[in-house]
Amino acid sequence: MMKRYKACFSCGGNRHRDSKKEKKRINIKENLTGAEKLSLEDLLEEELENPMVQLRYTYALDVIRAKLRLIHADLTAQSRRPVIRNLSSRIKTAESIGRKLVKKQHEISFETAVATLNDIAGIRVVCYFCDDIYQVAAAIREQSDLRVIKEKDYVKRPKKSGYQSVHLIVGVPVTYRDRTQEIRVEVQIRSFAMDYWAEMDTQMCYKKNTAQILHVERETKNYSDLIAEVDNKMLELRRRIEGG
Ligand code: GTP
Ligand code: MG
Repeated sequence: MMKRYKACFSCGGNRHRDSKKEKKRINIKENLTGAEKLSLEDLLEEELENPMVQLRYTYALDVIRAKLRLIHADLTAQSRRPVIRNLSSRIKTAESIGRKLVKKQHEISFETAVATLNDIAGIRVVCYFCDDIYQVAAAIREQSDLRVIKEKDYVKRPKKSGYQSVHLIVGVPVTYRDRTQEIRVEVQIRSFAMDYWAEMDTQMCYKKNTAQILHVERETKNYSDLIAEVDNKMLELRRRIEGG
């Protein structure tokens, strides 16, 4: 059930970037000489790859993974069917962090990354049914040793692209000796069907060229609606079966 993945969650953001932002991004890059750009990114990479930094993020991910296993066991016992289908986690690469800082027009530094990015550590939780998402989210909220800092419900209000998931930014206290640091982890909770759409969307995003963008985006949005319809029908069917 558990797997670790290295790749970035998103498609690199190409589809979400508007042309104005893109121009600003290029300007920021252009304002830096090659040598400066290299040294800022190298510095970021060096600090991020410090074992104490990596291990703190790994620790926070391990805490949430362990907690999610407990939540899975508890919810599975209550509903007498498996609830979580799959868990995966990753620590964002220095390259992807650098790209995101540029996109957000922030300074490229380790301090800025830690202060402004909520998804340096990320976990994806794939549930079987769409109502399981809210049970898992509620169970995370109930944990007294975790702090839910922020929530985004893209199931109730899907993104323009058609993307659906519930995102929780969870603060995990990580203590070493007498110092406790709160490490933020982005927890993405979605149904199996929503995960299928998001994975396919990412694939299409890599493949499409500029001339195809609008056409592909319209189609993938339509498929998101179709998949959500099937997801809801499966839920109705499960409820009818449960009702006898
Ligand atoms: P990002 O810069 O994309 O990380 O945005 P954000 O930090 O403001 O958060 P947001 O909630 O918009 O999205 C966070 C993550 O959700 C992304 O990194 C992706 O993993 C996922 N996501 C958001 N929108 C889409 C989408 O349209 N398609 C797919 N496949 N994934 C998406
Ligand atoms: Mg992200």
